[in-house]
Amino acid sequence: MTIRIVLNGIPAVFAVRPDETLLELIRDRAGLTGTKKGCDLGECGACTVLMDGRAVNSCCVPALAADGTSILTIEGLGTGKNPHPIQQAFTDAGAIQCGFCTPGMILAAKALLDKNPHPSRGEIREALSGNLCRCTGYVKIEEAVQLAAERISKEEPVRGED
Ligand code: FES
Ligand code: FES
Repeated sequence: MTIRIVLNGIPAVFAVRPDETLLELIRDRAGLTGTKKGCDLGECGACTVLMDGRAVNSCCVPALAADGTSILTIEGLGTGKNPHPIQQAFTDAGAIQCGFCTPGMILAAKALLDKNPHPSRGEIREALSGNLCRCTGYVKIEEAVQLAAERISKEEPVRGED
């Protein structure tokens, strides 16, 4: 079956198998290997992408279910030369060790900050609770999300009276 998605801002058409997952489509067909395959069971969050702005485990989403949606992967967020503030904050806060969990963590953090620009530490922990990290002990990751929230809120234009 053919599906149409917007992948990192670019319209794309894929012929997919009924048993194909969104993760397979992203990695194997689109070649976007920033999205990681960890457990392949919906338990680690390494495969997190945003589907219409919502964080999903792409290993558990049938590719067919993505038809008509907009998908954001880590490649669509920022680049090495022009990182997104969340990516920069992860680097600055020392929240990256092996990096395997990082794309999923950053996208889960983006989904949170888009909804809730000033999350508490508990809200950050809750939002990232589906994303496992075997390296950092999570504290620096939470600090990175807080730092990103501060920086993003400073970047926002001040709204005048209208
Ligand atoms: S690879 Fe999808 S949740 Fe682990
Ligand atoms: S930095 Fe290694 S799994 Fe998180």
